[in-house]
Amino acid sequence: MSYTNERIAQLVRADSVHKSVYTDPALYQLEMDRIYGQAWIYVGHDSQVPNLGDYHATRIGDQDVVMVRASDKKVYVLYNRCPHKGAKLVPDGCGNAGKFFRCPYHAWTFKLDGAHLSAPMKGGYEGTAFDAKHPDFAMRQLARVESYRGFVFASQAPGGPELVDFLGGVVSSIDNLCDRSPVGEVEVAGGVFRVMQTSNWKVFYENLHDTMHAPVTHESSFVAAREQAAEMGEMPLELHIMDGNGEPYSFWEKLELHAYEHGHGYMEGIFNPGAANTDAVTRAHYEVLEKAYGAERASAILGQNRHNTIIYGSGSPHTVFQQFRVIRPMAVDRTLIEIQTFRLKGAPEAVFKRSLMYANVINSPSSNVMADDVELYDRCQKGNQTRGGEWTSLHRYAGQDRVVDGGMQSTNGTSELPMRNQFKAWKTYMLASNRTTIPIAVEACSAAQLGDDCHAA
Ligand code: FES
Ligand SMILES: [Fe+2]
Repeated sequence: MSYTNERIAQLVRADSVHKSVYTDPALYQLEMDRIYGQAWIYVGHDSQVPNLGDYHATRIGDQDVVMVRASDKKVYVLYNRCPHKGAKLVPDGCGNAGKFFRCPYHAWTFKLDGAHLSAPMKGGYEGTAFDAKHPDFAMRQLARVESYRGFVFASQAPGGPELVDFLGGVVSSIDNLCDRSPVGEVEVAGGVFRVMQTSNWKVFYENLHDTMHAPVTHESSFVAAREQAAEMGEMPLELHIMDGNGEPYSFWEKLELHAYEHGHGYMEGIFNPGAANTDAVTRAHYEVLEKAYGAERASAILGQNRHNTIIYGSGSPHTVFQQFRVIRPMAVDRTLIEIQTFRLKGAPEAVFKRSLMYANVINSPSSNVMADDVELYDRCQKGNQTRGGEWTSLHRYAGQDRVVDGGMQSTNGTSELPMRNQFKAWKTYMLASNRTTIPIAVEACSAAQLGDDCHAA
């Protein structure tokens, strides 16, 4: 089906959404252009590329990209494509390219900022339109790249809001994650987990603030945790985290859900080992923060009890346990989740170990908790592919969302405000079809036009 703006607008109502947004490959393809081709998307953390030539190859929407540390010490984000025959230059994941990229197909080389460096047997290009200085023979940089406290984002669109304005109210989550370090810096450490989900990418974003599912979907894991704790005669933190999902509805109703422009948001509450300030790990953490920031600020930093934050299109940082679940759409019914864990520089190693524990218990492929969710994401995908109905419901507390400073807040922690907010953003992106992601100056140069006047600056 081809989609006019009018048809797209009809897919999202104030309190429901048409199921085709999860299942139609044509809409998915439009999303790759109109959302992932426009928005600021998290590429990676600059600690993943600390040294000259270090790279981290990943995806922005359906585009293979590579983040790399160049000789000027800056981080660049390039399309992962050799301009000769188009080969993907480096494989997915992290590595070191050395002082330059060298294509494994015919050995064209490129500076780490993407500029063309050399091609073997140059004589073969004499008398042709080949021009090493022309952008058509370089690796192309993404239109915009910005970093916020080491978190590198890129946008394929030449125009649009600055990164910090785009992030809006969720900047405070990145700040709190970094401020938990006594030197204000974090680094990706301990490797990453990857989980391939057989569901549409938007299902995961909806679930991140879906408090109504916790005591239902996670019954299998919190009941097992409680049984285990009873056997042990105590409830260690690992089990306590799993047990939390079994809180009654009255607990979830009290949580605060915050929603911001572009589909972002965060949830206050649930569980914060820092707030109690009683266990040995937290006390040691507090002490280094107190030394660095003073008692009042140290308490405020550790007291910020924020559960999942949503950076729509990028993923979900978790400040209290220092994780980032990076969400990468792979197909209309496939989504790759990469779970990054952060070490707080200067904080006790036990804090990092606690982050690794949380990643194992909640986010790893072998987590009992994640398995609960992944099963339901798959069921949503399959159910929405049947002819059993057209719409999915976002009615909970619809019409009761409150406008607050710079965003919206739910009247009840079980509200479906976050989902309504995400689809409001989705609709705005998807209707903005008059934007372009392609740098015009370069695109206008066909092979026949190559000449001095066609060299983009
Ligand atoms: S495809 Fe890269 S050098 Fe030929
Ligand atoms: Fe869940």
